[in-house]
Amino acid sequence: MIPFVDLKTQYLSIKEEIDRAVAGILETSQFVLGKEVAGFEQEFAAFCGGGEGIGVNSGTSALHLALLAAGVGPGDEVITTPFTFVATVAAICYTGATPVYVDIDPVSYNLDPARLEQAITPKTKALLPVHLYGQPVDMDPILEIARRRRIVVIEDAAQAHGAEYKGHRTGSLADMACFSFYPGKNLGAYGEGGAVVTANPEYAKTIRMLRNWGESTRYHHDLRGFNYRMEGFQGAILRVKLRHLEGWTEARRANAALYAERLKDSGIVTPQEMSYARHVYHVYAIRVRDREATIQALTAAGVQTGIHYPIPVHLQKAYRDARYGPGSFPIAERVAKEVLSLPMYPELQRAQIDQVSEAVRNQVTA
Ligand SMILES: Cc1ncc(COP(=O)(O)O)c(C=O)c1O
Repeated sequence: MIPFVDLKTQYLSIKEEIDRAVAGILETSQFVLGKEVAGFEQEFAAFCGGGEGIGVNSGTSALHLALLAAGVGPGDEVITTPFTFVATVAAICYTGATPVYVDIDPVSYNLDPARLEQAITPKTKALLPVHLYGQPVDMDPILEIARRRRIVVIEDAAQAHGAEYKGHRTGSLADMACFSFYPGKNLGAYGEGGAVVTANPEYAKTIRMLRNWGESTRYHHDLRGFNYRMEGFQGAILRVKLRHLEGWTEARRANAALYAERLKDSGIVTPQEMSYARHVYHVYAIRVRDREATIQALTAAGVQTGIHYPIPVHLQKAYRDARYGPGSFPIAERVAKEVLSLPMYPELQRAQIDQVSEAVRNQVTA
Protein backbone atom coordinates (compact mmCIF):
# COMPACT_ATOMS: atom_id res chain seq x y z
CA MET A 1 0.00 0.00 0.00
CA ILE A 2 1.28 3.47 -0.88
CA PRO A 3 -0.76 6.01 1.08
CA PHE A 4 -1.63 9.44 -0.32
CA VAL A 5 0.01 11.14 2.67
CA ASP A 6 2.01 9.66 5.55
CA LEU A 7 2.06 11.83 8.66
CA LYS A 8 3.18 9.08 11.02
CA THR A 9 6.52 8.45 9.30
CA GLN A 10 7.32 12.15 9.50
CA TYR A 11 6.41 12.29 13.19
CA LEU A 12 8.68 9.34 13.95
CA SER A 13 11.59 11.09 12.20
CA ILE A 14 11.36 14.06 14.63
CA LYS A 15 9.73 12.32 17.58
CA GLU A 16 12.13 13.45 20.29
CA GLU A 17 11.93 17.13 19.38
CA ILE A 18 8.15 17.01 19.09
CA ASP A 19 7.62 15.13 22.34
CA ARG A 20 9.81 17.66 24.14
CA ALA A 21 7.84 20.58 22.65
CA VAL A 22 4.52 19.02 23.67
CA ALA A 23 5.79 18.31 27.18
CA GLY A 24 6.93 21.95 27.39
CA ILE A 25 3.38 23.17 26.79
CA LEU A 26 2.02 20.80 29.42
CA GLU A 27 4.61 22.23 31.84
CA THR A 28 3.89 25.93 31.18
CA SER A 29 0.19 25.26 30.55
CA GLN A 30 0.11 28.05 27.96
CA PHE A 31 -2.55 26.24 25.99
CA VAL A 32 -3.84 29.20 23.98
CA LEU A 33 -1.47 31.75 22.36
CA GLY A 34 1.47 32.22 24.79
CA LYS A 35 5.24 32.21 24.30
CA GLU A 36 5.48 29.34 21.84
CA VAL A 37 2.87 30.84 19.52
CA ALA A 38 4.60 34.24 19.70
CA GLY A 39 7.94 32.57 18.94
CA PHE A 40 6.48 30.72 15.99
CA GLU A 41 4.88 33.90 14.64
CA GLN A 42 8.26 35.64 14.60
CA GLU A 43 10.16 32.72 13.12
CA PHE A 44 7.57 32.02 10.44
CA ALA A 45 7.40 35.68 9.38
CA ALA A 46 11.21 35.75 9.16
CA PHE A 47 11.08 32.56 7.07
CA CYS A 48 8.66 34.31 4.70
CA GLY A 49 11.02 37.23 4.27
CA GLY A 50 9.95 39.64 6.99
CA GLY A 51 6.91 41.39 8.37
CA GLU A 52 4.73 40.09 11.16
CA GLY A 53 3.01 36.77 11.63
CA ILE A 54 -0.31 36.39 13.39
CA GLY A 55 -1.18 32.83 14.38
CA VAL A 56 -4.81 31.75 14.13
CA ASN A 57 -6.81 28.53 14.37
CA SER A 58 -7.05 27.71 10.63
CA GLY A 59 -6.18 28.89 7.15
CA THR A 60 -9.84 29.75 6.65
CA SER A 61 -9.75 32.07 9.69
CA ALA A 62 -6.56 33.65 8.32
CA LEU A 63 -8.35 34.43 5.05
CA HIS A 64 -11.44 35.73 6.83
CA LEU A 65 -9.43 38.10 9.04
CA ALA A 66 -7.15 39.32 6.24
CA LEU A 67 -10.21 40.22 4.17
CA LEU A 68 -11.80 42.02 7.14
CA ALA A 69 -8.56 43.91 7.85
CA ALA A 70 -8.58 45.03 4.20
CA GLY A 71 -12.03 46.49 4.84
CA VAL A 72 -13.88 43.97 2.68
CA GLY A 73 -17.59 43.74 3.46
CA PRO A 74 -21.11 43.61 2.01
CA GLY A 75 -21.39 45.20 -1.42
CA ASP A 76 -17.73 44.61 -2.26
CA GLU A 77 -16.34 42.18 -4.80
CA VAL A 78 -13.25 40.03 -4.33
CA ILE A 79 -11.61 38.44 -7.37
CA THR A 80 -10.22 34.93 -7.12
CA THR A 81 -9.93 31.67 -9.04
CA PRO A 82 -12.74 29.12 -9.42
CA PHE A 83 -10.11 26.34 -9.30
CA THR A 84 -9.31 26.29 -5.58
CA PHE A 85 -10.36 24.64 -2.36
CA VAL A 86 -13.77 25.92 -1.30
CA ALA A 87 -12.31 27.71 1.77
CA THR A 88 -10.95 30.55 -0.39
CA VAL A 89 -14.45 31.42 -1.55
CA ALA A 90 -16.13 30.64 1.78
CA ALA A 91 -13.92 33.24 3.48
CA ILE A 92 -14.98 35.89 0.96
CA CYS A 93 -18.62 35.03 1.63
CA TYR A 94 -18.12 35.21 5.42
CA THR A 95 -17.42 38.95 5.02
CA GLY A 96 -20.64 39.48 3.06
CA ALA A 97 -18.69 40.30 -0.12
CA THR A 98 -19.29 38.65 -3.50
CA PRO A 99 -16.70 36.33 -5.08
CA VAL A 100 -15.85 37.12 -8.70
CA TYR A 101 -13.85 34.60 -10.69
CA VAL A 102 -11.18 34.73 -13.36
CA ASP A 103 -10.34 31.62 -15.38
CA ILE A 104 -6.99 29.90 -14.95
CA ASP A 105 -3.86 29.54 -17.01
CA PRO A 106 -3.85 26.06 -18.60
CA VAL A 107 -0.22 25.35 -17.66
CA SER A 108 0.19 26.71 -14.12
CA TYR A 109 -3.51 26.14 -13.18
CA ASN A 110 -3.37 29.50 -11.37
CA LEU A 111 -5.48 32.60 -11.96
CA ASP A 112 -4.58 33.97 -15.40
CA PRO A 113 -3.42 37.60 -14.97
CA ALA A 114 -4.23 38.34 -18.63
CA ARG A 115 -7.94 37.89 -17.82
CA LEU A 116 -7.91 39.90 -14.60
CA GLU A 117 -8.49 43.44 -15.77
CA GLN A 118 -11.78 42.65 -17.50
CA ALA A 119 -13.20 41.28 -14.22
CA ILE A 120 -12.51 44.45 -12.24
CA THR A 121 -15.44 46.75 -11.48
CA PRO A 122 -15.83 49.82 -9.22
CA LYS A 123 -16.88 47.36 -6.49
CA THR A 124 -13.62 45.37 -6.58
CA LYS A 125 -12.04 45.72 -3.16
CA ALA A 126 -9.46 42.94 -3.09
CA LEU A 127 -7.72 40.34 -5.22
CA LEU A 128 -7.20 36.89 -3.74
CA PRO A 129 -4.90 34.83 -5.97
CA VAL A 130 -4.20 31.25 -4.81
CA HIS A 131 -0.77 29.63 -5.15
CA LEU A 132 -2.37 26.33 -6.11
CA TYR A 133 -0.55 23.04 -5.42
CA GLY A 134 2.48 25.02 -4.17
CA GLN A 135 3.26 26.95 -7.36
CA PRO A 136 3.20 30.75 -6.98
CA VAL A 137 0.86 32.80 -9.12
CA ASP A 138 2.46 35.14 -11.68
CA MET A 139 2.24 38.07 -9.25
CA ASP A 140 3.89 41.00 -11.06
CA PRO A 141 1.07 41.72 -13.54
CA ILE A 142 -1.48 41.29 -10.73
CA LEU A 143 0.35 43.70 -8.42
CA GLU A 144 0.75 46.20 -11.24
CA ILE A 145 -3.01 46.23 -11.95
CA ALA A 146 -3.81 46.42 -8.22
CA ARG A 147 -1.43 49.32 -7.56
CA ARG A 148 -2.85 51.34 -10.42
CA ARG A 149 -6.35 50.90 -9.01
CA ARG A 150 -5.51 50.90 -5.29
CA ILE A 151 -6.89 47.42 -4.72
CA VAL A 152 -5.58 45.23 -1.89
CA VAL A 153 -3.88 41.96 -2.85
CA ILE A 154 -3.99 38.97 -0.48
CA GLU A 155 -2.11 35.75 -1.22
CA ASP A 156 -3.86 32.47 -0.45
CA ALA A 157 -0.63 30.65 0.37
CA ALA A 158 -2.33 27.76 2.17
CA GLN A 159 -0.54 25.29 -0.11
CA ALA A 160 2.70 27.20 -0.71
CA HIS A 161 4.95 27.47 2.36
CA GLY A 162 8.46 28.25 1.16
CA ALA A 163 7.49 28.64 -2.50
CA GLU A 164 9.19 31.49 -4.34
CA TYR A 165 8.23 33.96 -7.04
CA LYS A 166 11.28 35.48 -8.76
CA GLY A 167 13.35 34.60 -5.70
CA HIS A 168 10.92 36.03 -3.14
CA ARG A 169 9.02 33.80 -0.76
CA THR A 170 5.26 33.57 -0.59
CA GLY A 171 4.10 35.60 2.37
CA SER A 172 6.13 38.59 1.19
CA LEU A 173 4.63 39.06 -2.27
CA ALA A 174 1.52 41.16 -1.58
CA ASP A 175 -0.24 43.20 1.13
CA MET A 176 -1.05 40.12 3.20
CA ALA A 177 -0.67 36.37 2.89
CA CYS A 178 -2.68 33.57 4.47
CA PHE A 179 -1.29 30.17 5.37
CA SER A 180 -2.91 26.94 6.54
CA PHE A 181 -1.15 24.50 8.86
CA TYR A 182 -3.71 21.74 8.43
CA PRO A 183 -1.81 18.50 9.22
CA GLY A 184 -1.28 17.43 5.60
CA LYS A 185 0.09 20.79 4.48
CA ASN A 186 3.82 21.22 3.71
CA LEU A 187 4.12 22.79 7.16
CA GLY A 188 1.43 21.01 9.13
CA ALA A 189 0.35 21.31 12.74
CA TYR A 190 -0.97 18.38 14.80
CA GLY A 191 -4.46 19.81 14.65
CA GLU A 192 -5.85 22.94 12.98
CA GLY A 193 -3.79 26.08 12.48
CA GLY A 194 -3.20 29.06 10.23
CA ALA A 195 -1.44 32.42 10.03
CA VAL A 196 -1.52 35.77 8.32
CA VAL A 197 1.83 37.30 7.37
CA THR A 198 2.01 40.99 6.54
CA ALA A 199 4.52 43.83 6.49
CA ASN A 200 1.74 46.33 7.19
CA PRO A 201 1.60 47.06 10.98
CA GLU A 202 -1.97 48.40 10.76
CA TYR A 203 -3.29 45.20 9.19
CA ALA A 204 -1.31 43.16 11.72
CA LYS A 205 -2.76 45.09 14.65
CA THR A 206 -6.33 44.71 13.39
CA ILE A 207 -5.90 40.97 12.78
CA ARG A 208 -4.37 40.46 16.25
CA MET A 209 -7.43 42.12 17.75
CA LEU A 210 -9.96 40.32 15.55
CA ARG A 211 -8.58 36.85 16.36
CA ASN A 212 -9.09 37.55 20.07
CA TRP A 213 -12.60 38.99 20.41
CA GLY A 214 -11.60 42.42 19.11
CA GLU A 215 -9.90 43.25 22.38
CA SER A 216 -7.58 46.25 22.54
CA THR A 217 -6.89 45.61 26.22
CA ARG A 218 -8.48 43.00 28.49
CA TYR A 219 -12.29 43.24 28.30
CA HIS A 220 -12.20 46.31 26.07
CA HIS A 221 -13.76 45.14 22.81
CA ASP A 222 -13.03 47.82 20.20
CA LEU A 223 -13.92 45.56 17.28
CA ARG A 224 -16.46 42.78 16.82
CA GLY A 225 -14.01 39.91 16.80
CA PHE A 226 -13.79 36.15 16.91
CA ASN A 227 -12.24 33.31 18.85
CA TYR A 228 -9.67 32.45 16.17
CA ARG A 229 -6.62 32.07 18.44
CA MET A 230 -3.83 29.57 17.77
CA GLU A 231 -3.31 26.87 20.40
CA GLY A 232 -0.05 26.63 22.35
CA PHE A 233 0.54 23.03 21.28
CA GLN A 234 0.33 24.00 17.62
CA GLY A 235 2.75 26.91 18.05
CA ALA A 236 5.29 24.69 19.83
CA ILE A 237 4.95 21.89 17.24
CA LEU A 238 5.14 24.27 14.28
CA ARG A 239 8.34 25.84 15.68
CA VAL A 240 9.97 22.41 15.63
CA LYS A 241 8.65 21.54 12.19
CA LEU A 242 9.64 24.90 10.67
CA ARG A 243 13.29 24.00 11.31
CA HIS A 244 12.87 20.98 9.01
CA LEU A 245 10.75 22.60 6.33
CA GLU A 246 13.51 23.46 3.87
CA GLY A 247 14.80 19.89 3.94
CA TRP A 248 11.31 18.54 3.40
CA THR A 249 10.70 20.97 0.54
CA GLU A 250 13.90 19.84 -1.18
CA ALA A 251 12.78 16.22 -0.77
CA ARG A 252 9.40 17.05 -2.34
CA ARG A 253 11.17 18.75 -5.24
CA ALA A 254 13.44 15.76 -5.76
CA ASN A 255 10.40 13.46 -5.70
CA ALA A 256 8.66 15.64 -8.29
CA ALA A 257 11.73 15.52 -10.53
CA LEU A 258 11.78 11.73 -10.26
CA TYR A 259 8.06 11.45 -11.12
CA ALA A 260 8.60 13.74 -14.14
CA GLU A 261 11.50 11.58 -15.31
CA ARG A 262 9.57 8.32 -14.86
CA LEU A 263 6.43 9.64 -16.59
CA LYS A 264 8.29 11.25 -19.50
CA ASP A 265 7.03 10.47 -23.02
CA SER A 266 3.97 8.66 -21.69
CA GLY A 267 1.43 11.19 -22.95
CA ILE A 268 0.64 12.18 -19.38
CA VAL A 269 0.77 15.86 -18.53
CA THR A 270 3.05 16.34 -15.52
CA PRO A 271 3.27 19.57 -13.48
CA GLN A 272 5.36 22.29 -15.05
CA GLU A 273 7.44 24.58 -12.87
CA MET A 274 7.02 28.06 -14.33
CA SER A 275 10.17 30.06 -15.17
CA TYR A 276 9.44 32.53 -12.34
CA ALA A 277 8.64 29.89 -9.74
CA ARG A 278 10.05 27.66 -7.07
CA HIS A 279 7.28 25.08 -6.83
CA VAL A 280 6.97 23.31 -3.46
CA TYR A 281 4.73 20.48 -4.68
CA HIS A 282 2.14 20.39 -1.93
CA VAL A 283 0.11 18.47 -4.49
CA TYR A 284 1.58 16.55 -7.43
CA ALA A 285 -1.25 16.59 -9.96
CA ILE A 286 -0.93 14.93 -13.34
CA ARG A 287 -3.56 15.18 -16.08
CA VAL A 288 -4.99 12.06 -17.67
CA ARG A 289 -7.78 11.54 -20.20
CA ASP A 290 -9.55 8.65 -18.54
CA ARG A 291 -9.30 9.57 -14.88
CA GLU A 292 -11.69 6.94 -13.57
CA ALA A 293 -9.78 4.10 -15.22
CA THR A 294 -6.47 5.47 -13.95
CA ILE A 295 -7.79 5.69 -10.38
CA GLN A 296 -9.04 2.12 -10.61
CA ALA A 297 -5.73 0.84 -11.96
CA LEU A 298 -3.80 2.66 -9.24
CA THR A 299 -6.13 1.42 -6.52
CA ALA A 300 -5.65 -2.14 -7.80
CA ALA A 301 -1.88 -1.55 -7.59
CA GLY A 302 -2.24 -0.40 -3.97
CA VAL A 303 -1.76 3.30 -4.67
CA GLN A 304 -3.99 5.92 -3.05
CA THR A 305 -4.81 9.02 -5.11
CA GLY A 306 -6.71 12.27 -4.67
CA ILE A 307 -8.47 14.87 -6.83
CA HIS A 308 -7.77 18.55 -6.21
CA TYR A 309 -10.45 19.54 -7.15
CA PRO A 310 -13.17 17.73 -9.09
CA ILE A 311 -15.69 20.61 -9.16
CA PRO A 312 -14.73 24.28 -9.65
CA VAL A 313 -16.26 26.47 -6.95
CA HIS A 314 -18.65 28.32 -9.30
CA LEU A 315 -20.35 24.97 -9.97
CA GLN A 316 -20.68 23.97 -6.31
CA LYS A 317 -24.26 23.89 -5.11
CA ALA A 318 -23.65 26.16 -2.10
CA TYR A 319 -21.83 28.81 -4.14
CA ARG A 320 -24.00 28.99 -7.25
CA ASP A 321 -24.42 32.49 -8.59
CA ALA A 322 -26.76 33.44 -11.42
CA ARG A 323 -23.85 35.10 -13.24
CA TYR A 324 -22.02 31.81 -13.65
CA GLY A 325 -22.78 28.31 -14.89
CA PRO A 326 -21.24 25.45 -16.84
CA GLY A 327 -19.01 26.94 -19.54
CA SER A 328 -18.27 30.18 -17.66
CA PHE A 329 -14.66 29.13 -17.00
CA PRO A 330 -13.83 26.51 -19.63
CA ILE A 331 -10.18 26.00 -18.69
CA ALA A 332 -10.89 25.45 -15.00
CA GLU A 333 -13.78 23.15 -15.90
CA ARG A 334 -11.67 21.05 -18.27
CA VAL A 335 -8.71 20.81 -15.90
CA ALA A 336 -11.03 19.82 -13.02
CA LYS A 337 -12.12 16.80 -15.08
CA GLU A 338 -8.56 15.65 -15.82
CA VAL A 339 -6.37 16.27 -12.75
CA LEU A 340 -5.28 13.38 -10.58
CA SER A 341 -3.04 13.81 -7.54
CA LEU A 342 -0.39 11.18 -6.91
CA PRO A 343 1.16 10.42 -3.49
CA MET A 344 3.58 13.23 -2.60
CA TYR A 345 5.45 13.75 0.66
CA PRO A 346 9.09 14.18 1.66
CA GLU A 347 9.37 10.64 3.02
CA LEU A 348 8.18 8.99 -0.21
CA GLN A 349 10.79 6.44 -1.32
CA ARG A 350 12.35 6.15 -4.78
CA ALA A 351 10.96 2.61 -5.11
CA GLN A 352 7.48 3.87 -4.28
CA ILE A 353 7.70 6.56 -6.97
CA ASP A 354 8.81 3.88 -9.43
CA GLN A 355 5.84 1.72 -8.44
CA VAL A 356 3.31 4.55 -8.79
CA SER A 357 4.77 5.70 -12.12
CA GLU A 358 4.78 2.17 -13.48
CA ALA A 359 1.11 1.71 -12.59
CA VAL A 360 0.19 5.02 -14.25
CA ARG A 361 2.17 4.20 -17.41
CA ASN A 362 0.68 0.72 -17.67
CA GLN A 363 -2.83 2.06 -17.48
CA VAL A 364 -2.29 4.88 -19.97
CA THR A 365 -0.61 2.66 -22.57
CA ALA A 366 -3.01 -0.29 -21.97
C1 LIG B 1 -6.09 26.94 -1.15
C2 LIG B 1 -6.59 26.77 0.24
N1 LIG B 1 -7.13 27.84 0.87
C3 LIG B 1 -7.57 27.75 2.13
C4 LIG B 1 -7.51 26.57 2.85
C5 LIG B 1 -8.11 26.53 4.22
O1 LIG B 1 -7.21 26.16 5.21
P1 LIG B 1 -7.75 25.41 6.53
O2 LIG B 1 -8.14 24.04 6.17
O3 LIG B 1 -6.55 25.46 7.45
O4 LIG B 1 -8.88 26.22 7.08
C6 LIG B 1 -6.94 25.44 2.23
C7 LIG B 1 -6.75 24.15 2.91
O5 LIG B 1 -7.54 23.50 3.49
C8 LIG B 1 -6.49 25.54 0.90
O6 LIG B 1 -5.97 24.49 0.27
